[in-house]
Amino acid sequence: MAYREFKDISPNASTGAKAVNWLENRFPTAFDAYRVHMSEYYAPKNFNFWYIFGSLALLVLVIQIVTGIFLVMHYKPDAAKAFESVEYIMRDVPWGWLIRYMHSTGASAFFVVVYLHMFRGLLYGSYRKPRELVWIFGCAIFLCLMAEAFMGYLLPWGQMSYWGAQVIVNLFAAIPFVGPDLALLIRGDYVVGDATLNRFFSFHVIAVPLVLLGLVVAHLLALHDVGSNNPDGIEIKGPNAPKDEHGHPLDGIPFHPYYTVHDIFGVCVFLFIFSAVIFFAPEFGGYFLEYNNFIPADPLKTPAHIAPVWYFTPFYSMLRAITSEMMYALIACVVLAVGVAVVKSRLAGFIKGALVVVAAVAVALMLSIDAKFWGVVVMGGAVIILFFLPWLDMSPVKSIRYRPDWHKYLYAVFVVNFVVLAYLGVQPPSPLGERVSQVGTLFYFGFFLLMPWWSRLGAPKPVPDRVTFAPH
Ligand code: HEM
Repeated sequence: MAYREFKDISPNASTGAKAVNWLENRFPTAFDAYRVHMSEYYAPKNFNFWYIFGSLALLVLVIQIVTGIFLVMHYKPDAAKAFESVEYIMRDVPWGWLIRYMHSTGASAFFVVVYLHMFRGLLYGSYRKPRELVWIFGCAIFLCLMAEAFMGYLLPWGQMSYWGAQVIVNLFAAIPFVGPDLALLIRGDYVVGDATLNRFFSFHVIAVPLVLLGLVVAHLLALHDVGSNNPDGIEIKGPNAPKDEHGHPLDGIPFHPYYTVHDIFGVCVFLFIFSAVIFFAPEFGGYFLEYNNFIPADPLKTPAHIAPVWYFTPFYSMLRAITSEMMYALIACVVLAVGVAVVKSRLAGFIKGALVVVAAVAVALMLSIDAKFWGVVVMGGAVIILFFLPWLDMSPVKSIRYRPDWHKYLYAVFVVNFVVLAYLGVQPPSPLGERVSQVGTLFYFGFFLLMPWWSRLGAPKPVPDRVTFAPH
C-alpha cells in the first residue's frame, strides 16, 4: 500500500484526541476497517428482529471460544481420565460448573440461533444474487458447526458420547470400497478409544475452530462487499436505488450507532434467556445434556436407546428413514423424474438419452448397494442441497412478502416437517415413526428439488421501489 502522510493535530487538542491521532497514524488500516464495516457501513433501515441472529451467532461464537479456553485448562483428553476431569470441573474447580454449563448450553444456543438465522435467509431470499457467496460461506459454517459439535460431544466420555460416536463413525464404513479404511482412519483404532478421543480433542479445540473463524470472516467480508438484504428484498445500493448527495443510500442507515444499539438490545434479551437456561435447566430435560451421558463410557454395555443431541436429529431421522423398503420409493422418484424430463422438457435428444443412461446406472447402484449407505448419502445430501439454494429458487421476487400467499403456508409446512423429523430422531425407532420420517424425508427433498418449478408458480405481488419503513 502507498505510504500515507501523517495527519497533523493541534498542540492544543485533548490528550485523548492526541492518543487517537498517534494510533491512526501508525495503524490506519484499523481505522479504515472501522469506517468501512461500522460507521460508514450503510444497512437497510427496515431490518426487523430476524436480523439480530447474525450478531447473536457472533456472540455465541465468542462465548464458546472463551469458555472453551477455560475448560481446556482443567480437562484431560485421556480415556482413563476424561469423565473424571469433567466431574472435577463441575464439583471442584471454582466456577467450573458455570463455565461448563455455559459451554454446553452455548452449543445448543448456537444451533437455535443459526437455524433461525438460516430461516431468515429463506424467508427473504437473502441467498439470491448478489449474495450467493455469503450463503455458501454460511452453509460451510453450518457444516463446520456440525463437525465441531459432534467431536465436542465425545470429550466428556459418557455413555452417549461413546456410543453416539461409535454409531456415526460406523456409518462411514458403509461407503463402498474405502468405507472400512476411512472409519479406521477416523477412529484411529478398531473401536472408539483413546486414539479417537485424542484426535477429536485436537480437531475440536484447534483445527475446526480455526476454519470456522476464517469462514465467519469470509462470510462477513462477502456480505459487506455486496451489502445486506432486508425484509422487502429490495436492493438499497443498486445503480437505480435513491441516494443522497454523498452517494449514501436513502434507505440505509450507518451500522454504528443505529444497529449496534439495536443489536445490544437483542443481546440483552438473549442473555436473559441464556442465563435462565444455565441457572434453572442446564440439562434442559435431557435435550441439551443427555441423562445417559452422566454414566462413564462403557465399551461393554450398549445403551438401550442411542440418540444424538436435538440439533442433529432431523438429519438422523432422514438417515433412519432409508430402509431397504424405502429404496423402492426412491427408485420410483428417480424413474418418475427422468420420465417427466424426457416427455415434458424441450431438452435435446442426446441429453434425454444421457439422462436415461444416468438414471439406469443410478437405479442399478440403488438396487445393489446396501440401504445403509444410501441413508448416509441422504443425510449428507440434506445439508449439501442447501449450498444449491441460490440456483434452485427461481421466483421473480426475493422476499416472501411479495410472493403468492400460499408460499407462506408451504414454508410453514416445511418448518413443521423439520420439527417433526427432529422429534422422531430423539424417539426410539417405531413402525409409525419410520413411516412418518420417510414421508418427511421425501417432503424435505421435494421442497428443494422441485423449487425451480413451484417457486415460479402464481403471480407475485407488486414490489415497491423503496423499502417499507415506519418510524418507531
Ligand atoms: C457462526 C455462524 C454464523 C455467524 C457468526 C454469522 C454472522 C452473520 C452476520 C453478523 C450477518 C449480518 C447480520 C444479519 O444479517 O443477521 C450475517 C448475514 C447473513 N448470514 Fe450469517 N452467520 C453465521 C452462519 C450462517 C449460516 C449457517 C448461514 C446459511 C447457511 C448464513 C447465511 C447468512 C446470510 C444469507 C446473510 C445475509 C442476510 C441478509 O443480508 O439478509 N449465516 N451472518
